[in-house]
Amino acid sequence: MLSCHRLILASLQLCLLLVVVSFTDSRSLKCSPGKVCPDRPPVVLIPGDLGNQLEAKLDKPSVVHFICYKKTKDYFTLWLNLELLMPVVIDCWIDNMRLLYNRTTHLTKAPPGVDVRVPGFGQTNSLEYLDPSKRCVGRYFFTIVQELVNWGYTRDDDVRGAPYDWRKAPNENKEYFLHLQQMIEEMANKAGGPVVLIAHSMGNMYMLYFLNRQPQAWKDRYIKAFVSLGPPWAGVAKTLKVMATGDIDCVPLISPLKIRTQQRTAVSTAWLFPYAHTWPKDMVLVSTSNTSYTVQDYQRFFKDIDYEDGWAMRQDTETLVNALRPPGVPVYCLYGSGIPTPQGYNYTNFSDTDPTVINGDGDGTVNLLSATLCKRWVGQQKQPVHMIELPGNEHLAMLLNATTVEHIKKVLFPP
Ligand SMILES: *[C@@H]1O[C@H](CO)[C@@H](O)[C@H](O)[C@H]1NC(C)=O
Ligand SMILES: *[C@@H]1O[C@H](CO)[C@@H](O)[C@H](O)[C@H]1NC(C)=O
Ligand SMILES: *[C@@H]1O[C@H](CO)[C@@H](O)[C@H](O)[C@H]1NC(C)=O
Ligand SMILES: *[C@@H]1O[C@H](CO)[C@@H](O)[C@H](O)[C@H]1NC(C)=O
Ligand SMILES: *[C@@H]1O[C@H](CO)[C@@H](O)[C@H](O)[C@H]1NC(C)=O
Repeated sequence: MLSCHRLILASLQLCLLLVVVSFTDSRSLKCSPGKVCPDRPPVVLIPGDLGNQLEAKLDKPSVVHFICYKKTKDYFTLWLNLELLMPVVIDCWIDNMRLLYNRTTHLTKAPPGVDVRVPGFGQTNSLEYLDPSKRCVGRYFFTIVQELVNWGYTRDDDVRGAPYDWRKAPNENKEYFLHLQQMIEEMANKAGGPVVLIAHSMGNMYMLYFLNRQPQAWKDRYIKAFVSLGPPWAGVAKTLKVMATGDIDCVPLISPLKIRTQQRTAVSTAWLFPYAHTWPKDMVLVSTSNTSYTVQDYQRFFKDIDYEDGWAMRQDTETLVNALRPPGVPVYCLYGSGIPTPQGYNYTNFSDTDPTVINGDGDGTVNLLSATLCKRWVGQQKQPVHMIELPGNEHLAMLLNATTVEHIKKVLFPP
C-alpha cells in the first residue's frame, strides 16, 4: 500500500488496478471465510548429499557379473533401492552408480551405456521419502512438507523440490541452477511475493554457490529468506572416512569397503573435505600406525589411499564456495549440537579396516565449527542472520523434529 500511495500521484488508474489485482490474489488463497488469509511465501526445498532419488536406464557394452542387467527398457530407481544393495547385485549397482573422472577435462561422466537422470524436479515426491523400507534415509522432507500442507500449502505448486545429481559439485550442475532460477521466478510471480529457500546439509553449499552468483537486485526481488538446516560450510571430517574405507551404516550386509569404490568417485565427497580456512591446522583428521593427516595433507592422503583422482577433484572444487561470501538474503541458520560427531579417525590397518572414531561436537555428521560459520555473515551483509542452535538435534532427525518445524513456521508466518 505504501507504493500504492506513491502511485496515486502518478496514476490513479494504475493504482486502482493494483488494488483489484491484490484483492483477487488474496481471494484465491484457500482459507476459510471470515478468517484473515495468511500471506504464504512459496517454498523451495533443496536436499543434501544422497537426499533425492536418481534413476538410470541401461544399454551397456558389458557387465561386471552375469546377473547384472545389460539393458533396460526404461528408467528404474537407482537411488535409493535397497534391493540393489544386497550382496552380489551390489556389484551391478556400483558399476552403474560410479562416475568416471577425466583428468584432462576435469569432468565426470557415467560409465558407457549408463544414463542417469534426476526425476521430479519441481516436485516434492523424490525428496519426501527415499527408501521405502525406511532403513536408510526413510522419511526425508516428508514431515516438513506435510506440515506445510497443513498450513495451507499445496505440493508441487507453492511448495516444490529442487533435486539434483548430488554425486557432483556445482561446477558440473550448471543447468540445474538455470532451472532453479526459472522455478523461483515462476513461483514468486505466481504468488506475488518472494520465495523461501529451505536447504539441508550439502544443499546449503549448493544454495550459497547459487546466491553468490545472483545479482543483489534479483535476490531482493525473489528471495524472502534462506533457511539453512545443518549446513557444512567448512566441510565435514566424516568425508575422509568415506574416501578411505567407505561408509554405509544402514546396509549392514554390505562391507563399507565395497561401497567405497563408488563413493570415492562422487566429486561432492572431495568437495566436502574439511576446509583449511576453518579447521585447526594441527587437528589430526586421520592417523595410522606410522603417519597422520591434517587439513594440509590431502595430496598425500589421496596418494596413500591410492586414489589420486580425488586430489584433482578437490582442487577442481575447493574454490567454489570457500570464500563463504555472504548470501545477501535473510538467513536462518539452524544447527544441531551436543551429539558425538566424528572429527578424527585412528587406523591400525590403513585403509582397509574400520578405524577407531574420535568424536567432537556437532549434529552427528556436521562438525559444530563448520555449521556455525553463518555467524561470520552478521555485519557482512545488511540482511539479518539468525543463529538458532538446536541442542540434541541429530543431522537427519532434525528434519522430523517438532522444534525445527516450529522455527520454519515462524519464518513463513512471522508473528
Ligand atoms: C579425456 O578427455 C579428453 C579430451 O576430451 C579425451 O581426449 C580423452 O580420451 C579422455 N580420457 C579418457 C580416459 O576418457
Ligand atoms: C606406513 O606403513 C605402511 C604399512 O605398514 C607402509 O605401506 C607405508 O609405506 C608406511 N609409510 C611410511 C611413511 O613409513
Ligand atoms: C589416536 O591416535 C593418536 C596418535 O596418533 C593417539 O594419541 C590417540 O590417543 C588415539 N586415540 C584413540 C581414541 O585411539
Ligand atoms: C591388517 O591387515 C592384514 C592384511 O589384510 C591382516 O592380516 C592383519 O590381521 C590386519 N591387522 C589388524 C590389526 O587388523
Ligand atoms: C528435537 O529438538 C529439540 C531441540 O533441539 C531437542 O531437545 C529434542 O531432543 C529433539 N527431539 C528428538 C526426538 O530428537
